[in-house]
Amino acid sequence: MTDAERIGMVKEIFSTVTDRYDFLNHFLSLRRDVGWRRFTVKKMSFDSTHRFLDVATGTADLAIGAALRHPRIDVVGLDFMKEMLDVGQRKVSGAGLSKRIQLLRGDALSLPFPDGSFDVAGIAFGIRNIPDRLRALSEMARVVVPGGKIMVLEMAFTPGWFSNLIYHTYLNRLLPRIAKRFSLNPRAYYYLADSIMNFPPPDKFSALMRGTGMADIETHKLTCGATYLYIGRKPRG
Ligand SMILES: C[S@@+](CC[C@H](N)C(=O)[O-])C[C@H]1O[C@@H](n2cnc3c(N)ncnc32)[C@H](O)[C@@H]1O
Repeated sequence: MTDAERIGMVKEIFSTVTDRYDFLNHFLSLRRDVGWRRFTVKKMSFDSTHRFLDVATGTADLAIGAALRHPRIDVVGLDFMKEMLDVGQRKVSGAGLSKRIQLLRGDALSLPFPDGSFDVAGIAFGIRNIPDRLRALSEMARVVVPGGKIMVLEMAFTPGWFSNLIYHTYLNRLLPRIAKRFSLNPRAYYYLADSIMNFPPPDKFSALMRGTGMADIETHKLTCGATYLYIGRKPRG
């Protein structure tokens, strides 16, 4: 697949699954996704702009989690799919957070903010869907203040016979059946399985973050390595 085909597939998936996205997310991760996002927002700190940017915010779970955990901050959530943002906007309004969370349509590869606009920029389960990861990470680093944090939450595939067996069964057999049951495009779920299995392992992904100039990279293994939280710091000088 070319990058343009991958982006087309990502857009097709997230305009199709929109209404069921939250349900499927919780169901397929056995609700672990809630705990993973909670862990992520706990690791955030705000000392300068008191603003958080949630890139590829989707239905705004990370944005809402951050606003609830850190009552003094304002949040911007950005995504290129209007359908996902519409669901997110309903959740933001329902949580009474419309004054503190702004949802914007935009591309992670060209963030519409000046340098140093946020204390923290995060992305949850989004980076694997962006073929040009280096550019997305560089953009996140650009818009945080010096000393600010870049946080990436992403699923991982650690090779080994046991994880191979579980992942292959789960992703290649269970997931497509669920997709069929929910009348989703099965190609979309093959793409999803492929994107998880071909995502770089933690040491390579950390190196990619370092390659954008980030320092002090932390790697947090969650739920036996099903997901990792990566944290990088933008150097001060
Ligand atoms: C798996 S969802 C994750 C949503 C949310 N962050 C969460 O934690 O559930 C991936 C999201 O990334 C968005 N996305 C993918 N590529 C993007 C890009 N280049 N710019 C902005 N959003 C993008 C998709 O539209 C989708 O909403």
